[in-house]
Amino acid sequence: MEEEERIVTAHLMMEDQAVEYSLRPRYLAEYIGQSQVKDNLKIYIEAAKMRREPLDHVLLYGPPGLGKTTLSNIIANELGVHIRTTSGPAIERPGDLAAILTNLQENDVLFIDEIHRLHRTVEEVLYPAMEDFALDFIIGKGPSARSVRLDLPKFTLIGATTRAGLLSAPLRDRFGVVSRLEFYGEDELSFIVTRTAEIFGVGIIGEASREIARRSRGTPRIANRLLKRVRDHAQVRGDGIITEEVAHDALERIQVDPMGLDSIDHKMLRAMIVSFGGRPVGLDTLAASIGEESQTIEDVYEPYLMQIGFLQRTPRGRIATPAAYGHLGLPLPDAGR
Ligand SMILES: Nc1ncnc2c1ncn2[C@@H]1O[C@H](COP(=O)(O)OP(=O)(O)OP(=O)(O)O)[C@@H](O)[C@H]1O
Ligand SMILES: [Mg+2]
Repeated sequence: MEEEERIVTAHLMMEDQAVEYSLRPRYLAEYIGQSQVKDNLKIYIEAAKMRREPLDHVLLYGPPGLGKTTLSNIIANELGVHIRTTSGPAIERPGDLAAILTNLQENDVLFIDEIHRLHRTVEEVLYPAMEDFALDFIIGKGPSARSVRLDLPKFTLIGATTRAGLLSAPLRDRFGVVSRLEFYGEDELSFIVTRTAEIFGVGIIGEASREIARRSRGTPRIANRLLKRVRDHAQVRGDGIITEEVAHDALERIQVDPMGLDSIDHKMLRAMIVSFGGRPVGLDTLAASIGEESQTIEDVYEPYLMQIGFLQRTPRGRIATPAAYGHLGLPLPDAGR
C-alpha cells in the first residue's frame, strides 16, 4: 500500500487540504497542548513586543501533523506582523532568497518549511541575514572583487522540519529558540476532536471524541481526519450525531485498531514476530519482507511504534516488544520455557 493511501498517515493528504486551513487555531490560547513550548513562546513574544523588536529566530521540529505550520502562523498573529511562507526546496537560488528577504517589512516573520532541504548556497545567504540582518555580495572578479553589504529589514525566521538531525550545525546554532513538538496525549486530542466537530457543526457526544482520540497516533492531523470519516459514517448510517458506538463501528470499518494501528503496522509486527521468530531484524530485510521502502518504515511507521513501546531498535536490529505480542494476541517466544 502506498503511504499516501493510509488513513493513519501523519502526512498531509489531499482530503485534508480543503479543511486544514479552517481548522487551524489562530491564537496561542486556541492551540491545544504543547504547554512548555507555548509558555516559553508567550514570554518571548511578549518581550519582543515590549521592546518593539523582532522575535528571536525560532526552529520548530517534530513528526508531521503535530502543528508546526499552525504554530508558526500563530506566532506571527500574536506578534501582529505579516508572515511570508516558503519552503526549503522552493528556494532554488540565492537570488530567490535575497528577493524574499528584501521584500520583508520590519519585524515580519519569514516561515521556511522543510528547512532541512535548503540548498547549501542558499543557506549561506541566510547566515548573515539571520545574524546581522544583512546580505553580502561579491562585486567584480579577481583582484578587484570586493564585498558589499546590504542592510535588510529586521525579521524573525521560523524554520520547521521533521528531521532536525539533517540540519547543518551552523544553521541550527543561529536559532535563538529551538522547540520540539511532542506527540499529543489522549485528553488533548479528545479536546481537539471536540473543537473540530464544533467547527464542522456536527454533534459528538459521550465518549465518542475519546474513542477517536485514542486511535489518532498522538497526531492532531490524524484526529481531524478520522473525525471526518466518522462523521460520514454517522450521516449515512445514523442521524448524523456521533455517538461512541457510531465512532467505534466506523473506526473498525476503516480498520484503525484501538491503538491507532492499521493493517500495515499489523503486517510489520507480525512479520517480526512470526516470520522472523522474534529475533532482531535488519531494516532492509524487514522492508523487503513486507514490500515497503526502508525509508518509509524508518520515518513513518517506526516513530509511533517506538513511542507506544511496541518496537525497539537494538544494535542487532528491530525487535517487537512483549507489549506488541500482547496487543496482537500472540504468545511470547519464551512462554513455554
Ligand atoms: N495544538 C493544536 N491544537 C489544535 N489543532 C491543531 C494543533 N496542532 C495541529 N492542529 C491541527 O492539525 C493540523 C495539522 O497541523 P500542521 O499543519 O500545523 O502540522 P505540521 O506539524 O506543520 O505538519 P507537517 O510536518 O506535515 O508540515 C492543523 O490543520 C490543525 O487543525
Ligand atoms: Mg507543516
